[in-house]
Amino acid sequence: MKYHKLTENAVKPEGFWGKLMIRSMNKGHSELTDWALAHFPIENGSRVLDVGCGGGRTVSKLCDLVGSGKVYGIDYSELCVKKAQKLNHKNVLCGRASISQAAVSALPFEDEKFNAVVAVETYYFWPDKLGDLKEIYRVLKRGGRILLVFEMLQDENNPDKWKSVENRLGIEAVSREGIEDMLFRAGYLNIRSHVKSGTTWLCAIAEKE
Ligand SMILES: C[S@@+](CC[C@H](N)C(=O)[O-])C[C@H]1O[C@@H](n2cnc3c(N)ncnc32)[C@H](O)[C@@H]1O
Repeated sequence: MKYHKLTENAVKPEGFWGKLMIRSMNKGHSELTDWALAHFPIENGSRVLDVGCGGGRTVSKLCDLVGSGKVYGIDYSELCVKKAQKLNHKNVLCGRASISQAAVSALPFEDEKFNAVVAVETYYFWPDKLGDLKEIYRVLKRGGRILLVFEMLQDENNPDKWKSVENRLGIEAVSREGIEDMLFRAGYLNIRSHVKSGTTWLCAIAEKE
């Protein structure tokens, strides 16, 4: 019961269980995020957006990478925005980070604002995956890159691996080919992906021409 309350709050954290979930995501996704970011070099001075930023741990990691640049985080959960702002208060104060409440389907940014967009463990929940990838494409500069990060990769050897979480949250584990195909259909080029051996971790990277 408690476990269910916790996992249900991965969708849009709120209230008591949401706070616990945020703490657990900040900790539990840290190694996955470090692994994925190692495949995604970020240049000094970059303007980077973290979509579905949750409790803000990735925003904080990105702030260490952008140098004179700036990191923006958005999440549609009010609680996540508060927690991410708190975790990153120093970076927010000095203007290196800005975190606001917004949905991926309607990003509150002008066209071609970002050098890079990162999305960790959030794609499963997006309401219109193809449209949402196109919305991210809109805010990327030409030559800008997207990084999608997943822990829930389908496992051929264990097809039921994610069944209970899929059923409970109404989401689907992803496949490497499925994600690459969606990126292609959304207009991205230079699509490549990496799977960490011995795990179900996937990161996909693509570019706007
Ligand atoms: C499993 S959490 C991952 C959070 C964070 N990226 C991390 O790795 O810890 C999924 C996050 O995506 C956010 N989210 C889900 N759907 C969203 C949407 N349509 N627009 C913006 N944020 C969304 C949720 O509020 C939640 O914070």
